Amino acid sequence: MTIITQLIATLGKTALFLALLVLVLAAVLNYFDDADPIKYASMNQDTAALEETFRQQNKSCFILGASGETGKVLLQELLQRGFFSRITLIGRRPLTLEGKAYENLVQEVVDFEKLEDYAAAFQGHDVGYCCLGTTRAKAGAEGFIRVDHDYVLKSAELAKAGGCTQFHLESSRGADKTSNFLYLKVKGQVEADVEALGFDRYAIYRPGVLLVDRQESRPGEWLARKFFGAFSSSMSVPIQMVAKAMVSNTLLQPEQKTEILENKDIVSLGKSAAEK
Ligand SMILES: NC(=O)c1ccc[n+]([C@@H]2O[C@H](COP(=O)([O-])OP(=O)(O)OC[C@H]3O[C@@H](n4cnc5c(N)ncnc54)[C@H](OP(=O)(O)O)[C@@H]3O)[C@@H](O)[C@H]2O)c1
Repeated sequence: MTIITQLIATLGKTALFLALLVLVLAAVLNYFDDADPIKYASMNQDTAALEETFRQQNKSCFILGASGETGKVLLQELLQRGFFSRITLIGRRPLTLEGKAYENLVQEVVDFEKLEDYAAAFQGHDVGYCCLGTTRAKAGAEGFIRVDHDYVLKSAELAKAGGCTQFHLESSRGADKTSNFLYLKVKGQVEADVEALGFDRYAIYRPGVLLVDRQESRPGEWLARKFFGAFSSSMSVPIQMVAKAMVSNTLLQPEQKTEILENKDIVSLGKSAAEK
């Protein structure tokens, strides 16, 4: 008997099939792994000094989507690290935020269908963070495009016109404007359209599955979380890491005006921020 037939006899066909399936999955996940991490001109500089210099500049920022899972954690991270002298939350509803930590916070409630009327809310910010998004299941295909593309792009336009020089966009792993999948196509398209606005600095974050205990029920996302969370750290990322990476990256000077941070880059930046 050959080794393979012995193996089949010992394990049984089902077990062998499962083993093969795991091997194929491992190969596929490895194949889709991110490229090498990006490099930053300021990576080796003393981060404490960078942070202090940044704080002294009394900059202000806005967050779109601060009521969402990433946005919430991003706000806490920004407050904790104290980089900005003023933080503005721009959203469709006011958030109940009480306590001393929130005293320098401004809330702007806007109608995203008439954003032109709210240009003032976007004026005078140095940095913009965007964690806006919905799902096709929640909003339908058209609604999804409106939120994830139109609202994001219009906000970026108003921010740019209002003097914002740095824009940080939470996009998604696999974003690609030529994709046949609506989700990836819309994400890729908005990435490209915001790039065309010409911010001095533009960072695109492409996390894999976000690891978070979401209150809202999203069965598909729950399954993906369980699967990718268990099998591949390059395909998923805890939401805290995304927030930490977005904040840390604000201080860095990439070699190019536009940078794309794939899941691995996010994990790497997020981890180094967590270790400090
Ligand atoms: N979930 C994942 O695994 C995953 C993976 C990769 C990338 N992403 C992307 O990462 C981004 C953030 O994801 P998340 O899970 O942190 O987001 P989330 O929890 O779903 O929050 C989305 C935010 O967008 C706002 N929003 C949704 N629909 C809106 C509408 N019609 N008008 C105005 N505001 C609206 C929400 O405001 P309200 O609170 O008022 O609804 C909330 O602040 C999204 O772009 C998402 O596509 C997600």
